[in-house]
Amino acid sequence: MKVIVITQPGGPEVLQLADRPKPAIGPDEVLIKVMAAGINRPDVFQRKGNYPPPAGAPPDIPGLEIAGVVAEVGAAVTHWKTGDKVCALVAGGGYAEYCKAPEGQCLPIPSNLSYLEAASLPETFFTVWSNVFDRGGLQPGESLLVHGGSSGIGVTAIQMAKALGSAVYVTAGSDDKCSFCEQLGADKAINYKTADFKQEIKALTNGKGVNVILDMIGGDYMPGNIDSLAVEGRLIFINAMNGREVQLDLSKVMAKRLIITGSMLRSREVAFKAAIAKNLEQTIWPLIESGAIKPVLYKIFNADDAAAAHRLMESSTHTGKIVLSFEH
Ligand SMILES: NC(=O)c1ccc[n+]([C@@H]2O[C@H](COP(=O)([O-])OP(=O)(O)OC[C@H]3O[C@@H](n4cnc5c(N)ncnc54)[C@H](OP(=O)(O)O)[C@@H]3O)[C@@H](O)[C@H]2O)c1
Repeated sequence: MKVIVITQPGGPEVLQLADRPKPAIGPDEVLIKVMAAGINRPDVFQRKGNYPPPAGAPPDIPGLEIAGVVAEVGAAVTHWKTGDKVCALVAGGGYAEYCKAPEGQCLPIPSNLSYLEAASLPETFFTVWSNVFDRGGLQPGESLLVHGGSSGIGVTAIQMAKALGSAVYVTAGSDDKCSFCEQLGADKAINYKTADFKQEIKALTNGKGVNVILDMIGGDYMPGNIDSLAVEGRLIFINAMNGREVQLDLSKVMAKRLIITGSMLRSREVAFKAAIAKNLEQTIWPLIESGAIKPVLYKIFNADDAAAAHRLMESSTHTGKIVLSFEH
């Protein structure tokens, strides 16, 4: 099968086309003929050599989400059959014509979506559900601040939290990105290059602060995050792109009884991911079917052009998701 491999740690040019045997599946796995694979920022970190894949994942084939057709099922698989159209969260190996996935990490492709659209869902939908709703416990009527509102994660968080009844504020790096986030449903998008998000959040919430913050930035955002949280607020990290070392005033954590937490999805066990899949299918998939939540595709690249797709992501000029097509 045709795959895209990381030939060595480096720039986008290290992504090269190669031939590999199809993966062999275990009893609880399915083999998927990949029609499309979503691109995520963690793929860029892996390509640079900063995000090694967990044990069991292909060492040099990136790709955390796919959509396609079930081509083979393992002996113990009960939920899927050959020919089913699925999208799946995988721990790696998505940039390939065939990819295996545990059956519990597959979801049906919503009837109104293409393969390209479906491939853009799993990584950010699993991550946002797990962090904002499970870990952060965001409730209807509460408020959410998402940093990186125009990212793949951001567009998912905006739509999910709005659809489930929360006020959503985001930060983004340009006025165009801010308009895009507000068109998608954000109550207010703050251009962090021209405004101080802490002051803006204070004004937007009448001084109360937000209940949950989803942060991928870290570093110098920490003091502003702490000041932007309401009493009993939850601050959740999914990355720290501006730095892992932060300044923290613990007296504010105690005074407001804050919870600071975070998680990494990729290395979690299959049962954990399968439980998220069940929740998504029950709660979010009907909202996709109804059109209340939509995939946000920014650009589609041919699989052979994975390097160009990574270049675009690293330019940070995109809004929403970038997807590779394996359809011919
Ligand atoms: N923990 C987990 O399980 C998990 C899972 C998936 C993703 N993630 C993380 O979530 C983040 C978003 O992923 P994604 O695929 O949605 O990314 P993406 O679409 O590439 O978006 C990232 C955006 O973040 C903003 N940004 C702000 N500061 C940045 C910085 N120092 N470096 C790079 N970008 C910066 C940029 O927009 P502006 O113009 O607004 O600055 C950029 O477009 C990534 O950090 C990723 O590692 C974590």
